[in-house]
Amino acid sequence: QRTIYLTRHGESEMNVQQRIGGDSPLSPAGITYTEALAQYIANENIKDLIVWTSARQQAICTAAKINAPTEPLKALNGINPGMFEGLTYREVAERYPEEFAARDRSKYYYRYPGGESYHDLVARLEPVIMELERAENLLVICHQAVARCILAYFLDKDPEHLPYIKVPLHTVIKLTPMAYGCMMESIPLSV
Ligand code: F6P
Repeated sequence: QRTIYLTRHGESEMNVQQRIGGDSPLSPAGITYTEALAQYIANENIKDLIVWTSARQQAICTAAKINAPTEPLKALNGINPGMFEGLTYREVAERYPEEFAARDRSKYYYRYPGGESYHDLVARLEPVIMELERAENLLVICHQAVARCILAYFLDKDPEHLPYIKVPLHTVIKLTPMAYGCMMESIPLSV
């Protein structure tokens, strides 16, 4: 039996400001999470653990204190918000109300101008998910939208619900694939 550990990166400065997308340094709470996560992983005593992160600094930094081989993968980068990169949700709602409403109407299929939709993201993640299926014990450090896609795959959630799956910060999600389906446990770590 093997386990997939899944987490979002520690809180970033852009998360604090509620900005969309990004490649930003961790906030003080995010830095604390890097220690809490490393401690949690050490206590789990996982055989031959491998860590995959996205290629974004907030994900790579989140792995920094973990004692295991780490591989950054661009395919795990967050959803590409195109021209809305770096804006707050509020700014998008004020400046581009039609886009904002369109995303609300169909969050799975809505494609950011110059960027991606959740539907695109699922396609981008397909090869990574195939690798995930084959891998042994693994910790994946990624981003909210990517974590939603990975969870939807393992928990068989339909596209309509996928973009609304709750994936809180500073929480480790433990997935244990079984013969039929997958067991899931959420472990919030205190920061
Ligand atoms: O706010 C953090 C974040 O990872 C953004 O970078 C990303 O655009 C967003 O979450 C995805 O969540 P939603 O699809 O709900 O906006």
